[in-house]
Amino acid sequence: MNSKRYSFYAVIAILSALSVMATAAEPNLKGIMQGLRDDVVAITDGLLIDDLKSVADGATRIANHERIPAEQVQLVATELGSEMATFKQFDVSVHNLSLSIAAAAEKGDRDRAIADYQSMMSGCLACHAAYKERVAAVLSEPGKGE
Ligand code: HEC
Repeated sequence: MNSKRYSFYAVIAILSALSVMATAAEPNLKGIMQGLRDDVVAITDGLLIDDLKSVADGATRIANHERIPAEQVQLVATELGSEMATFKQFDVSVHNLSLSIAAAAEKGDRDRAIADYQSMMSGCLACHAAYKERVAAVLSEPGKGE
């Protein structure tokens, strides 16, 4: 390999490393939500094909989702005011149910995993019904959050 070509590959390697770092360093609420959707798909699929490992893995990823960046939390808090407590409560409830799904799946308790999965989905959708549009509007204002 000549040196010109070698440095071309080096530049590509550095650029792709930087772009990976950029995505890892800047999660935002929308990106976190897109990850949750993938995790819910893994859980649903696992329940449908009796793959409890996929259920446990998806639920564990939901439980460990990244934190919303502080500046976005601030924007949401300013918009929601005293309702911020309710917004947070939805997050806590979904979090606790995801832990419960993971524990049930690891024990092979399919019925409990299904019941908790249904409650968790209700939690996702209840938060969306109450806050998704409002919060998305605040976070998508130019120069804010994204
Ligand atoms: C605490 C409230 C809350 C909970 C709980 C919640 N979401 Fe969301 N979700 C939001 C908000 C707010 C948005 C809009 C974000 C934006 O557009 O910036 C959103 C957006 C989304 C989107 C759309 C992303 C896009 O590309 O536009 C998906 C998918 C999603 N959520 C999945 C989920 C799943 C799956 C769960 C449950 C495991 C969940 N959410 C739980 C508040 C919540």
